[in-house]
Amino acid sequence: MVASVVVFLTMAILSGYCAGLEVLPPGPVNGTLGGNVFFKTTINPTTLSAIVWTFGDTPVIIVDFLSSEGPVTGEGYVGRIRLDNSTGSLELLKLTIADNGEYRVILTESDLMYLSNTSLNVYETVSGATITITPNPPIIEGGSVTLTCDVAGFNITREWMKDGHPVSSGDDIILSEDKRVLSIKKRTDSGEYLCRVSNHVSSENASDTVNVIYGPDGMEIKGPNEIEVGQKFTLTCSAYSNPPTSYTWMHNETEIPGHSPEFAKEKSEHSDSGDYTCTATNDVTGNKTSVVHKLSVKGKVNGLSVVVITGTVIIVLLVVEVAVSVAVYFIKKNGVFSITAGNRQYRLCFHIDLNWSEKGPGYISKAP
Ligand SMILES: *[C@@H]1O[C@H](CO)[C@@H](O)[C@H](O)[C@H]1NC(C)=O
Ligand SMILES: *[C@@H]1O[C@H](CO)[C@@H](O)[C@H](O)[C@H]1NC(C)=O
Ligand SMILES: *[C@@H]1O[C@H](CO)[C@@H](O)[C@H](O)[C@H]1NC(C)=O
Ligand SMILES: *[C@@H]1O[C@H](CO)[C@@H](O)[C@H](O)[C@H]1NC(C)=O
Ligand SMILES: *[C@@H]1O[C@H](CO)[C@@H](O)[C@H](O)[C@H]1NC(C)=O
Ligand SMILES: *[C@@H]1O[C@H](CO)[C@@H](O)[C@H](O)[C@H]1NC(C)=O
Ligand SMILES: *[C@@H]1O[C@H](CO)[C@@H](O)[C@H](O)[C@H]1NC(C)=O
Repeated sequence: MVASVVVFLTMAILSGYCAGLEVLPPGPVNGTLGGNVFFKTTINPTTLSAIVWTFGDTPVIIVDFLSSEGPVTGEGYVGRIRLDNSTGSLELLKLTIADNGEYRVILTESDLMYLSNTSLNVYETVSGATITITPNPPIIEGGSVTLTCDVAGFNITREWMKDGHPVSSGDDIILSEDKRVLSIKKRTDSGEYLCRVSNHVSSENASDTVNVIYGPDGMEIKGPNEIEVGQKFTLTCSAYSNPPTSYTWMHNETEIPGHSPEFAKEKSEHSDSGDYTCTATNDVTGNKTSVVHKLSVKGKVNGLSVVVITGTVIIVLLVVEVAVSVAVYFIKKNGVFSITAGNRQYRLCFHIDLNWSEKGPGYISKAP
């Protein structure tokens, strides 16, 4: 059978009988790996006495059909073809890369012979594109982080985007030559990454999000260092951190309840002076950073009034002392005051000394 086909082919090619009678549309025909292609002839259904399909330059028989005998399928094509014996069209199934190449068909219809050829390109569609990020989250700033874009398929080109903008190698981002591996390290590299893979016949996207954990750092407390008693004051603590930090405050050694970045007081007191410590905590890493702010509450207004009050008290005491001493002088014969309060009587006794500059102790004795 094979020998007869070769003779047949040679005859057909040499004869020139069918020159110009193309039965295949201009190619090439494109197929995808694992898929099917249909080599459809341009003739209307008719009775064909012979159909031969061959592949390659040194022709390999795909199928050899004689109307008297039926189809004989070539080695390697069993179960992979479907032949339409009325048009000579051939369907080739489960394409492999090895199917790339040139296909010829010879059709015989009574005493007419058609000879045509075309070529097939088999492309592999890209599939299963993925981005793998190492290490696993949480991704802590300072370590090396890589994003690897993998996909099945041939002749693949890759393109990276971050937050919708093309990525190229730079100071902190390094893209490998084949663009498969992207290396990042900074907090500003957080974002949505997309790897677009494509070849002649298909394309696919893979995307993933990188969240770089950092901080707290760059801490500061904003607020006054010196205020006067009674003034309102506000201290505001800030830090760079991902995730956003939680804050705690201490005044001197005492913790202030709450987790606000702000500490405020409507009316300051002397005791509000001292060291204010703000501590920021990164809840993912547990890292803590503290910063101290000194506040001094000056007592100008209050100081003056203390002097005034003290002065007044001293004068009042002096007046009382003089008055008491004078009174005592005049009643020194008795030397006792009696005071009745409720059913109890109190006697106030003085030791009297006529030398005014030297006062002895007074005492109160309780009467029964
Ligand atoms: C196959 O692809 C080529 C280019 O890649 C194109 O010129 C041709 O028209 C395609 N064939 C068919 C049948 O679509
Ligand atoms: C041609 O194809 C038809 C339909 O598939 C089938 O019934 C017939 O048996 C085939 N002829 C030969 C000679 O194989
Ligand atoms: C058909 O074969 C001829 C001669 O081998 C070649 O020049 C031509 O490019 C082929 N046509 C197709 C569509 O492959
Ligand atoms: C890969 O690309 C090259 C050149 O671009 C091309 O010659 C070759 O046929 C392609 N291979 C596949 C399997 O697509
Ligand atoms: C893949 O990404 C590219 C570039 O961002 C976009 O133009 C395209 O629409 C995306 N395709 C799909 C299927 O999401
Ligand atoms: C957390 O603290 C450790 C030890 O102090 C330090 O090495 C690391 O860089 C810190 N991490 C962050 C994200 O600041
Ligand atoms: C905190 O310390 C400052 C300075 O040592 C002091 O003046 C202030 O009274 C202290 N306040 C409290 C509430 O401990």
